[in-house]
Amino acid sequence: MNETIYRPGLEGIVAGQTSISSIADGLRYRGYPIEQLAQHSSFEEVAYLVLHGELPTQGQLDQFRNQIGQAMELPEEITATLRSIPPGVPMMDVMRTGASLLGHWDEQAQDISTEATLAKAVRLVARLPLVMCYRHRLRQGQQVVPPRKDQSLAYNILWMLRDQEPQPDHVRALDVTLILYVEHEFNASTFTARVVASTLSDLHSAVTAAIGALKGPLHGGANERVLDYLLKLRSPEEAAQWVGQALQRKERIMGFGHRVYRTGDPRAAILAPYCEQLAAQTGNQPMEAVAARIEQEVRQQKNIPPNVDYPAGRLYYYLGLAVDLYTPLFVISRTVGWSAHVLEQQAANRLIRPRARYVGAQPRDYVPLEQRRE
Ligand code: SDX
Repeated sequence: MNETIYRPGLEGIVAGQTSISSIADGLRYRGYPIEQLAQHSSFEEVAYLVLHGELPTQGQLDQFRNQIGQAMELPEEITATLRSIPPGVPMMDVMRTGASLLGHWDEQAQDISTEATLAKAVRLVARLPLVMCYRHRLRQGQQVVPPRKDQSLAYNILWMLRDQEPQPDHVRALDVTLILYVEHEFNASTFTARVVASTLSDLHSAVTAAIGALKGPLHGGANERVLDYLLKLRSPEEAAQWVGQALQRKERIMGFGHRVYRTGDPRAAILAPYCEQLAAQTGNQPMEAVAARIEQEVRQQKNIPPNVDYPAGRLYYYLGLAVDLYTPLFVISRTVGWSAHVLEQQAANRLIRPRARYVGAQPRDYVPLEQRRE
C-alpha cells in the first residue's frame, strides 16, 4: 500500500459522501439553510426532512407526528430499570443504557432493512425523551408523567419533566434548539454511527455507540461544561480574569471553537436572541453579562468564536432544566441525524476501515521468559 495522507484526528480528510447536510457555505439540511428552518419549521418537520430528504406535505407531517405520538411509550420493564439505576449515574450514561434497552423491546431490532431502520428511528426519537424524563422524575422520587400524544416533542419534554403546562415561548425556544442539534455532517458521533452501520450492524448499536461519543466534553458534552464555569463567575470583571488565567494554562474554554467552523458557528448566532429574551424573563441577565464578557475576551485573546453549545447550555439553564439533561437533549435531536446517516451508509455501503501509520518497535524476535532480565 503506498504511503497515503495522514492527519491527526482526520482533520480535513473527506471520509465519505453525504446528501444529508452541508456546512461549506453555512449549515444546510438537504439544501435548506438552517436560518430558514429555525425561523419557520419545527423539530418534527425537520426530522421528516432529514430522514426522508424532502419537506413533508401537511398529510405526511400529520402522519409522521401521529407515528411519533403513538410510539411515545416505554415498556414497564424499562421504567423499572430506570428506577433501579443508582442515583448518581449521569443522565448521559442513562441515555446510553436506554438506547440499548429500547432495542431489547423492539421486535425489529435485528432487521437492518430501510423500512425497519426508519420505523426504529421513529420509535427511538419518540422514546428517548421518555427515558430522560421518566428517569429524571424517578431519581427525584417523583411519579413519572406520561406524555400527551397529541403534543410536540418539545412540549412533552417540558410537560413530562414538570407535570405542568409549559409556556409557549419556552416550548418554542426548546424546539429551536432541537432543530439546530439535528444534524451536522461527519461530526464525531455521527461518524461513529456510520462506522457501526458500515459493518451491517443495527440502528440501536449505532445510536448507543454514538451516544458514547457525544458524551465527551470536546463534543456534545460541552453544553453542560459551559455551566460549570458560568455558575462560578459572579461578574464580567471576574470572568475576564478567569478567561486570561484559563488561556494561560492552555485550557480549552468549553463552548468555544470548532473543528470546521473557524469564523463562527451559525447556530450560535441563531440562539443568542433566545438566550437574551429568556434571561430577561427569568432574571438571569447577570449570567448573560458574564457570558458576553467571556465571549469578548476569548475572541480578543484567541480569535475563537462560540459554537452552538455556548448559547444552548445557557438557554437550557434559563428554562430551569437540570444541567445533566443538556447533552441528553442533544441526543434526542441528533438521533434523527444519526439515523439518516445509518440509512445513507447502508444504502451504498463499504466497510469503514482506515489504515494506521506504524510508529512502534522495530521488528524483533521472541525472548524466552528465563532470558528476560528484571
Ligand atoms: C460540537 O464536529 C461537529 O460538527 C461537532 C458539533 C456538532 O453539531 O456535532 O458542532 C458539536 O461538538 C461543538 C464543539 C463543542 N466542544 C467544545 O466547545 C469544547 C471546546 N472546544 C475545543 O476543544 C475545540 O475547539 C474543538 C475540539 C471543538 C475543536 O478543536 P480542534 O479543531 O481539534 O482544534 P485544536 O484543539 O487543534 O485547537 C487549535 C487551536 C489551539 O491553539 P494552539 O495550541 O495551536 O495555540 O485553537 C485553540 C487551541 O488551543 N483552541 C482553543 C479552543 N478551541 C481551540 N483555545 C481555547 N478554548 C477553546 N475552546
